[in-house]
Amino acid sequence: MTSNEIRKKFLKFFENRGHKIIPSASLIPENDPSVLFNTAGMQPLVPYLLGQKHPMGTRLVDVQKCVRTGDIDEVGDNRHLTFFEMLGNWSLGDYFKPDAIKWSFEFLTSKEEGLDLDINRIYVTVFEGDDNAPRDNEAADIWGKYVSKNRIYFLPAKNNWWSAGDNGPCGPDTEIFYDTNEVPLGDMTHDEFVKADDEGRVIEIWNNVFMEYEKALGKVVGKLAKHNVDTGMGLERIVMVKQGVKTVFGTDLFGGEQTREERIIIDHVKASLFMISDGVIPGNTGRGYVLRRLIRRASRFSSEPLSKMIEKIKKIYEGVYNLDDNGIIKEEEEKFRLTLEQGLKAFEKGINPFDLFQSYGFPIELTIELAKEKGIKIDREDFDKKLKEHQDLSRTSSAGMFKGGLAGTGEMETKYHTTTHMLLAALRQILDRITKRRSFKNCKKCIFRFI
Ligand code: SER
Repeated sequence: MTSNEIRKKFLKFFENRGHKIIPSASLIPENDPSVLFNTAGMQPLVPYLLGQKHPMGTRLVDVQKCVRTGDIDEVGDNRHLTFFEMLGNWSLGDYFKPDAIKWSFEFLTSKEEGLDLDINRIYVTVFEGDDNAPRDNEAADIWGKYVSKNRIYFLPAKNNWWSAGDNGPCGPDTEIFYDTNEVPLGDMTHDEFVKADDEGRVIEIWNNVFMEYEKALGKVVGKLAKHNVDTGMGLERIVMVKQGVKTVFGTDLFGGEQTREERIIIDHVKASLFMISDGVIPGNTGRGYVLRRLIRRASRFSSEPLSKMIEKIKKIYEGVYNLDDNGIIKEEEEKFRLTLEQGLKAFEKGINPFDLFQSYGFPIELTIELAKEKGIKIDREDFDKKLKEHQDLSRTSSAGMFKGGLAGTGEMETKYHTTTHMLLAALRQILDRITKRRSFKNCKKCIFRFI
């Protein structure tokens, strides 16, 4: 089964059960300044989970693009990814535990409509209860209709409670695991299962959140007006399970990358391509900085230009997503290659990480990586302190100058930054012309050719 077929099957399965298919929201959150990117299927739906009426009704199904950047340094093993897709079905005050669990089970095991996975390899976990909410006996009882009681485990909030942050809708969840070992693991005690999970011998494939609580400042403050169901199944993982390969890189969503470097490159270029397609541009702050860091890190690991990789990724997603980087990756790559050499020289001379960042656009993480390779330790705290001072300084100056109703200084800072760069570039071009005694007229690239 191809990844394309799995996406389609999922949408169709839930469409047949009264769900409306909604398109993926952009990776850039629309109304949530607390996160840089959508990190889960629920994020764009938060207003509706909190009770706002959704124009498409109370049963939705989608495939949401997500980016998680917390794990960037772990990318390269067999499962951490920066960009991924999440399959999700949603009940907004509509069905609850019985239907959600039944449909999850049916989709995974049904030969005709679902993925035809092996019932004997499925394990589930449910919430064991704490001060916030009671033990989820109901979910366990429902699961008892579909899987052996010996394969249902109660686990604490650390495992079976979902919330996207300290505030907002949340609730206990039930997670579905799959055993992909050649010789099936069979019945396991609670402790054996926990150990198998820790060791990656069972893989979590799907999460059903029974969202009926609300959190504020990290504490459950009450129940939502209506109960919801939020499910999330990582596409890359379920495709890996279904295609019977050992890592996500062996699925048709990747190209069989084997080494850590190869995996980092495809992961980072893919995430960059999706980010740019949703309107992010490289920069020194926020989303732009994450993007810059991804492109530069990919570029550093790659022995050839990234263009081939870009084409490869476009092909993988042909007909599913419109991906176009408008040459931005190449531009950023070239800039980086030029400064890399100078930066490396400066690094060898012992220039401090903050100056490397400021003058050469060297992300601190890259400096740390380089230093590690050379057995040098970098004072991260010192860097963070300097960066904060720098940011505070520029914030104060832009806030001072633009008191008149500008909401975010971040955007203004970025504009300033860009303007400064353009000004410097123009000055450099002018100086170049003057020293070489050439006119500007014939220069196609120079922005002063009209002089
Ligand atoms: N929000 C839950 C998760 O991301 C389920 O979609 O796992």
